[in-house]
Amino acid sequence: MLKISTAGRVDAFHAIVFAWFAKNGRDLPWRKTKSPYKIALSEIMLQQTQVDRVIPKWRAFLLAFPTWAHLANASTADVIRMWQGLGYNRRAVMLHRLAKSVVDLGGELPNDIDAMKKLPGIGDYTANAIAAFAFRNASAAPVDTNISRIFRRVFPRHKSDPKSIQRLAKSIAPRDVWTWNHALMDIGALHCSARGHVWGLCPLAPLHGSKEKKERVGGKGQGGQVKKMRFEETDRYFRGRIVDALRESPMTLKKLRLRSELASLDETRFSSLISRLVHGGVVEQRKSTVFLAGDRD
Ligand code: ADE
Repeated sequence: MLKISTAGRVDAFHAIVFAWFAKNGRDLPWRKTKSPYKIALSEIMLQQTQVDRVIPKWRAFLLAFPTWAHLANASTADVIRMWQGLGYNRRAVMLHRLAKSVVDLGGELPNDIDAMKKLPGIGDYTANAIAAFAFRNASAAPVDTNISRIFRRVFPRHKSDPKSIQRLAKSIAPRDVWTWNHALMDIGALHCSARGHVWGLCPLAPLHGSKEKKERVGGKGQGGQVKKMRFEETDRYFRGRIVDALRESPMTLKKLRLRSELASLDETRFSSLISRLVHGGVVEQRKSTVFLAGDRD
């Protein structure tokens, strides 16, 4: 680790990150637009889905719904249909609610972080990311897990609870928040990652704490012997199969229950998966028929 003062460390951090991005920054499609709508869509898609999977979905979604107004006027069911392949379908429901709120506000997303946070589906991270990338708001400091890891590695002696890291991120953000945060995202995804962190390749390695510190921060998992469930056994997997079936058409619960991909579920688990989808606004139930929200309006 370089022995330098905090101010020196911040300067070196900035210099390394900007130089790295100028040479290696990723050329991603949502970085070529200034549209708050398109940028908000990318951020919501990227919350739980990898960049490679998001790129074609983002493009297809924008062809189907080119503006907030197109999205607001669609049915929730059609938005969920376009969300296929991205998972976590509740995001599609929240995005649709967001579009309706934006249209109610006159058709423009507010550029203020606190105002954005009051809207459906926009939390602290998303508001800060949109503020940085769409509005270049100098006080924006989006901190996701990758960015948080970078800060904990570069400032190993700093308090590492989420609030302290957020404050640190804000206090050292340079003026060009657009480049800075895209650069941190790329370094966090490509080099300074939790798994696959190769000491020699990480551009921030000269600023990291000791390797021991890195191992602690790097998240080796809990280490215990807890057996990891296969994805195909999880509630998330089965909710995805239910929503996929309903993308085709509404269905009675009885018919849905007979689908081969749901055959291994017992009655209680099947019911609780349906309840969760209904509760989340993804699915509606009328008598014994279930369908994607808005599909029968
Ligand atoms: N993850 C979240 N936002 C991102 C962005 N704008 N570019 C790349 N990865 C991201």
